[in-house]
Amino acid sequence: MKKILIWGGTGQVGTHLIRKLTQNNHTVTVVTRNIHQKGHLIKTQGNAGFIEIKECSIFEEDKIRKLFENTDICINLIGILFEKKNGNTFKNIHSIFPTLLAKLCKEYKLKQFIHLSALGINKAVDSSYAKSKLDGEQNALKIFPHTTILRPSIVYSSSDNFSCNLMTLLSRLPVFPLYYNGGTKFSPIHCSELTDVINFAISEKVNSNIIECIGPQILSFKEILLILLKLINKKRLLLPFPLPLAMLTAKFFQLLPNPLLTVDQLTLLKYDNIASGKYKTNFDIGLPAKKTFSDEVKKYSYMWTDGGEYSRKKDILN
Ligand SMILES: NC(=O)c1ccc[n+]([C@@H]2O[C@H](COP(=O)([O-])OP(=O)(O)OC[C@H]3O[C@@H](n4cnc5c(N)ncnc54)[C@H](OP(=O)(O)O)[C@@H]3O)[C@@H](O)[C@H]2O)c1
Repeated sequence: MKKILIWGGTGQVGTHLIRKLTQNNHTVTVVTRNIHQKGHLIKTQGNAGFIEIKECSIFEEDKIRKLFENTDICINLIGILFEKKNGNTFKNIHSIFPTLLAKLCKEYKLKQFIHLSALGINKAVDSSYAKSKLDGEQNALKIFPHTTILRPSIVYSSSDNFSCNLMTLLSRLPVFPLYYNGGTKFSPIHCSELTDVINFAISEKVNSNIIECIGPQILSFKEILLILLKLINKKRLLLPFPLPLAMLTAKFFQLLPNPLLTVDQLTLLKYDNIASGKYKTNFDIGLPAKKTFSDEVKKYSYMWTDGGEYSRKKDILN
């Protein structure tokens, strides 16, 4: 049984992962920027005695060091989709912080460092997000060659920011924009199948590998929207958006505190988000993903249908 230090453990992947690791009798220390905001959620993800929560920011090296003193494995799940003011930059979060973690993994002689990166970053050379993720990976591998890098395609579950946000937008907007004609391809992986890969990396002591984490299907963005529309029983006009207009709207959106789309995300959308063929995938290491996007989303999509959970039922007396 291992002592595992998890950065970014309060997010979608983290909460699924903590449940899996504590069920397998590992003890986890989850680090959050704000214990008051997220502590209560984390405390309920495992039995008493298996979870410790610590408050620390990515800039407090002295505090970070202390957390490494009693740790076997470090997992980094911190990631952002858009930059915010001050220190919240791709460079700080995706490049400098994983570099520091790798340095400390080496110094404190940890057994493993598992770092969550993203699929498709080699190709997306003009995206700042992709460049920063790639820098972080390369630095980590250079400093701590035992690092295992996991590169997921879109990760979805009932607590994601992807299928849930799209269903909210689709249920509210009469027209939905299609960037690049909706042709960008994805291989969505269910969050529980991604955490199976992390769990496997720990139990089988997988080291020094880049593993691409993909689901069982390849779906275009338009196909994803059509599946979601069918599940929430709505018809919407999917409107191809010319790129200059898309850029203009993204420039406007990214001024908002929680932008729906940024210029960098639009750039990233140009590239397919599917297995590259250059690295092993979860299928190659014996963990084929089986959960299909439509079957899984169906389980929680009722929340966006008119009438909610009982929208598909007839009158109780009939
Ligand atoms: N979800 C996907 O579709 C997807 C796809 C490809 C790659 N990934 C990668 O997989 C990893 C896990 O994804 P996820 O969906 O679980 O991520 P998430 O829920 O968006 O975020 C994970 C955690 O990162 C911490 N965090 C967020 N912004 C931060 C900031 N500015 N500074 C420091 N910490 C910050 C937060 O923890 P606190 O608020 O508790 O500090 C948050 O709970 C990330 O590295 C992500 O880039 C995800």
